[in-house]
Amino acid sequence: MGTDAATGTDAAADVAAPDAAAPDAAVVDSAAPDAAGPDVAAPDAAAPDVPAPDVAAACPDGAPCNDGNACTASDHCVGGACAAGSPIVCNDGNPCTADSCDAKLGCAHAPATATCPDDGNPCTADVCAAGTCSHPPASGACTDNNPCTTGEACAGGACTGGKALSCDDANACTSDSCDAKAGCVHTAISGCGGAAPTYADVNSQIITPMCVQCHGNQLAYAAIYNVPSGDATYTKFVDPGKPNNSAILMAIDPSLPLSWGGRMPKGNPGAMTAPLVQLMRDWIQGGALP
Ligand code: HEC
Repeated sequence: MGTDAATGTDAAADVAAPDAAAPDAAVVDSAAPDAAGPDVAAPDAAAPDVPAPDVAAACPDGAPCNDGNACTASDHCVGGACAAGSPIVCNDGNPCTADSCDAKLGCAHAPATATCPDDGNPCTADVCAAGTCSHPPASGACTDNNPCTTGEACAGGACTGGKALSCDDANACTSDSCDAKAGCVHTAISGCGGAAPTYADVNSQIITPMCVQCHGNQLAYAAIYNVPSGDATYTKFVDPGKPNNSAILMAIDPSLPLSWGGRMPKGNPGAMTAPLVQLMRDWIQGGALP
């Protein structure tokens, strides 16, 4: 290495590195922090244009940079300039804020007054207040999803106060009930609404086969229809339309209080079946038709 400062150096290097004591321009160049940029980029004396190479060096292609817009991210150098990156996402996932982006300030989340997601409770409102979703108690009618109650109303955030639903269809030939899933159910009563039984039915099914052997003509139609019995409780043998006032029913229906005598057929009351008792009851109830 020569010791002469002029040896192997050029004018540009000399200008940038005024330290004449440096024995070697290259060493001086790399050691001078303030001159490193231009010197390294422009080692050739034929390229004295310092500013242009400076810009390219400050923003080499692909290098991260900041385009000054707070609404873009991943900005990077393209052709020596800082190019905008992708837009940033300002969605905070909060239904009660309006999300926006300001080029200087970045994301903003202003409180919104929209409704917010339903909490599934019919007795609460779903409203945004001060940027948060709240569910204050609401008033009004509601349903408890039980078809057997009616007239429910919201109280304190709950649906309450339902009264039992009346399923009465005013049809004497249906039994009315309520099913918690299906609602009112009207089940037809077997045999109801059909023609009332007649004495011919009662005679053929009960009296002839089970009674005449002992009573003979005592239970003939004219002998019992609307005929007083002399008893205080069952005042007639057959009281048309009033089975529970008829001694003949008392005599065969174990569910009625026994007023005198014993259950029939005497000696074998177990032979009297429930459907036959019902037939006798229906006959009297229906007017004890001949
Ligand atoms: C085995 C004979 C016998 C048969 C069968 C019989 N009864 Fe009697 N029944 C009597 C006697 C005896 C009495 C008198 C009271 C008593 O002894 O209980 C009587 C009484 C009655 C009385 C008056 C109320 C009472 O309890 O005393 C009625 C009503 C009556 N029977 C209806 C019937 C009917 C209806 C049948 C058929 C389902 C029937 N009986 C079958 C023997 C019979």
